[in-house]
Amino acid sequence: MFDFRKSVVYQVYPKSFYDTDGDGMGDLRGVTAKLDYLQKLGVDYIWMNPFFVSPQRDNGYDIADYRAIDPRFGTMEDFEQLCREADKRGIRIMLDMVFNHTSTKHEWFQKALAGDKEYEDFYIWREGGADGTPPNNWESKFGGNAWEYVPEKGKWYLHLFDRTQADLNWENPRVREELRDVVRFWMDRGAKGFRFDVVNLISKGSYESDYEGDGRRFYTDGPRVHEYLHELSQATFGTDAEFVTVGEMSSTTMENCYRYAGADTGELSMVFSFHHLKVDFVGNEKWVLVPFDFAKLKNILFSWQTGMAEHDAWNAVFWCNHDQPRVVSRFGDEGEYWAPSAKMLGTVIHCLRGTPYVYQGEEIGMTNPGFTSLDQYRDVESINHFHILRDRGLHEDSAYDILRVHSRDNSRTPMQWDGTEKAGFTQGTPWIEITPNHTKINAASQVDDPDSIFAHYQKLIALRKQYDVIAYGDFQPLDAENPTILAYMRQWKGEQLVVINNFYRKPAEWACPVDLTGFTCLLSNYADPSIGSKLHLRPYESLVLYRKAE
Ligand code: GLC
Repeated sequence: MFDFRKSVVYQVYPKSFYDTDGDGMGDLRGVTAKLDYLQKLGVDYIWMNPFFVSPQRDNGYDIADYRAIDPRFGTMEDFEQLCREADKRGIRIMLDMVFNHTSTKHEWFQKALAGDKEYEDFYIWREGGADGTPPNNWESKFGGNAWEYVPEKGKWYLHLFDRTQADLNWENPRVREELRDVVRFWMDRGAKGFRFDVVNLISKGSYESDYEGDGRRFYTDGPRVHEYLHELSQATFGTDAEFVTVGEMSSTTMENCYRYAGADTGELSMVFSFHHLKVDFVGNEKWVLVPFDFAKLKNILFSWQTGMAEHDAWNAVFWCNHDQPRVVSRFGDEGEYWAPSAKMLGTVIHCLRGTPYVYQGEEIGMTNPGFTSLDQYRDVESINHFHILRDRGLHEDSAYDILRVHSRDNSRTPMQWDGTEKAGFTQGTPWIEITPNHTKINAASQVDDPDSIFAHYQKLIALRKQYDVIAYGDFQPLDAENPTILAYMRQWKGEQLVVINNFYRKPAEWACPVDLTGFTCLLSNYADPSIGSKLHLRPYESLVLYRKAE
């Protein structure tokens, strides 16, 4: 029977996945061509980043037509074929719905600009100050003020992201009806799930200036957000138990997530939250260089595990996506312990309570590309922030150091299929450079190697299906204060799972607080794991131990 708690989602960034027509950009046929690979990995869903008509200012998160496929990615026929072929392999397609904003090239915005009052009310317009200042001091997430002035109208429109991404006015029932219709449109064409982009930002509260922050407290988890999501769900996917939905929650609170992803709140199946990844930030500031805070990482991960479980709500669990740097570069080791650290990090996520997400290339241990000049970057956020850092007086080299660690382009380089010149990604010129280490790190060298990172992910995915305790068990931290080990226990109907991870290169001795008598090892990243009252953990060693009561 279908159960999203036993499922694993694989995220495809279509632009960088596999190019079948030689234009240097991945396409829908490219995803179809690689379905056997994904079936071999064992995933249940493919979440695809947006491939709708878009000027691509923000790589498709600036949608100009919700119902049409950008010809760069293919045709509706290609999409339907992808759904059919995926279905044959037991894989379902999940689409990305970007409903907080549209591209300013969207027909609705164009009509608004042309003076059509009906469509003007699809967006958020305000008057500014008499001295030409914007309506308030909110900051765009991509840098700069969040309002753009339109001289012909004498008014400003809100854009929480790029100025070409205008925020939709969800207070207008017509907007909500249109968006429901978009959901139905894709349900009718074969989509079996949705990811909703920054969906906790759709209900704005008051429009005051924020003198303590950047404005997010006024529009994050806003006053009518639960009502809107409930309404959307009930009118569309909510009536079909086979449908899976995930909301991307920006700077959210756990209390709100109990409702967004509660078992019977009628909103979404699960949520992405990001607090556990802000552990190499200073506060909310990501454009800085600081070592990651392991204590904080554990604390956040664990409190979300226990909090969501207590409230019968469901997490999406993940390290990577198209907005995050590569995890092996971030929390693991790109050098000598590349493979063990990549496997350990995979184990941490896949044994948690929640639905795991694998981002393309994570399963083969892809790393950050190490770009050294601005012309290698494509991401609007990275380029904007490079200039902001330079304007603040930071030396060019330091600005590059920060981009190399935090840029979203770190995860957007082409999928490394093989060790040939273009990594087996394209016959043409890739839209963004390929990471040079594809000669060593690539899928071809791993798919049939039983010791590879790929094989480790395969096993993790299979374990979730095989052992109910992984899908349904509770969550209990072990030795939560330990400064280098991340360990936890899961229990379910007489089954016990103990997951132990040395998060660092330094070997560690550890006495497990759980008596390990009778436990067997289901998975490790070393060939000869040993279990005892005192464990000698090697660099990045990871153990998944299991016992079933007689
Ligand atoms: C989400 C997307 C990101 C995009 C932003 C604006 O955070 O994941 O890629 O830039 O929303 O749509």
